[in-house]
Amino acid sequence: MFEIIDARWLAADVKRFEILAPRIAVKQQPGQFVIVRVHDHGERIPLTIAGSDPTSGTITLVVQGIGKTTRLLNSLEAGQAVLDVVGPLGNPSEIRKFGTVVVIGGGVGTAIAWPTARALHEAGNRVLSILGARTRSLIILEDELRAVSDTLFVTTDDGSYGQQGFVTTKLQELIDTEERLDHVLAIGPIPMMRSVADVTRPHGIPTTVSLNSIMVDGTGMCGGCRVLVGNQARFACVDGPEFDASEVDFDVLAQRNAMYRSAEQDALKRFEQSPARDLDRVEHACQLAARHPEVNP
Ligand code: NAD
Ligand code: FES
Repeated sequence: MFEIIDARWLAADVKRFEILAPRIAVKQQPGQFVIVRVHDHGERIPLTIAGSDPTSGTITLVVQGIGKTTRLLNSLEAGQAVLDVVGPLGNPSEIRKFGTVVVIGGGVGTAIAWPTARALHEAGNRVLSILGARTRSLIILEDELRAVSDTLFVTTDDGSYGQQGFVTTKLQELIDTEERLDHVLAIGPIPMMRSVADVTRPHGIPTTVSLNSIMVDGTGMCGGCRVLVGNQARFACVDGPEFDASEVDFDVLAQRNAMYRSAEQDALKRFEQSPARDLDRVEHACQLAARHPEVNP
């Protein structure tokens, strides 16, 4: 079991956890993720590590409660525990001196952009960060991102804070006004990462995105996280999660991520009707046993 040392809400449905996982805390690098299982009947969910403290042995996870398992996780408090935390998995972000780097965090993607922004800043880059949210109350980690940026720009879709518009509005302004941008890192919802790629592609600015595809094992065996990059099938868990944005087929990513949407919505509905029963549920039935009871009586 992995104990939750601290749990606090950052925004509606977005919670920050400090979880005791000493072996992961000493090894973790920006851009890597863990696979979490809340209880022994639960699904595995990939969560990018937002930071770690090797001294206290804790890792930081920021969780947006959008499905059954993330809602269940967000119902937990300090002193409780999750069953499994496996990692660190995936390749670390590429950290080197690029020059002027734009780091873009869209919504909860900011939690993932933040540690990489810090590492890029420590590597001597000039870091211009853009934090975008739909509205002021959904902005997270503003002070943390500002502390590791040379300049932080905030945008809100509704104009309730910072500059009105999408993150790409600010990105286009920087492209128009800055002498040179050497690298862009964008982490957030798929439409945002696709738009960032569309904005930087004509200017030939190297751009990296972190792909949040469906994952099961996180070790390259199940194929669940398959994405199309440069017309080649890649596994986000072992080949990524970061890829060259100009080569990512965002249509395939969006289609595959939507594959289980109705099942996810049903599971969420059942969980919302009876959250207390969740720990007793066995969600997965063996398909083989269902079709061939003679083999698996
Ligand atoms: P959101 O929908 O509130 O969007 C956040 C910001 O992204 C917006 O304020 C806007 O600035 C920008 N954006 C959104 N659509 C855009 C578009 N079409 N063009 C340009 N900019 C656009 O974000 P949210 O609700 O916090 O995020 C939800 C999604 O992000 C979930 O689906 C989640 O799976 C995904 N996510 C992805 C990663 C990742 O690793 N890529 C990490 C965490 C979350
Ligand atoms: Fe199974 Fe990537 S999560 S292959």
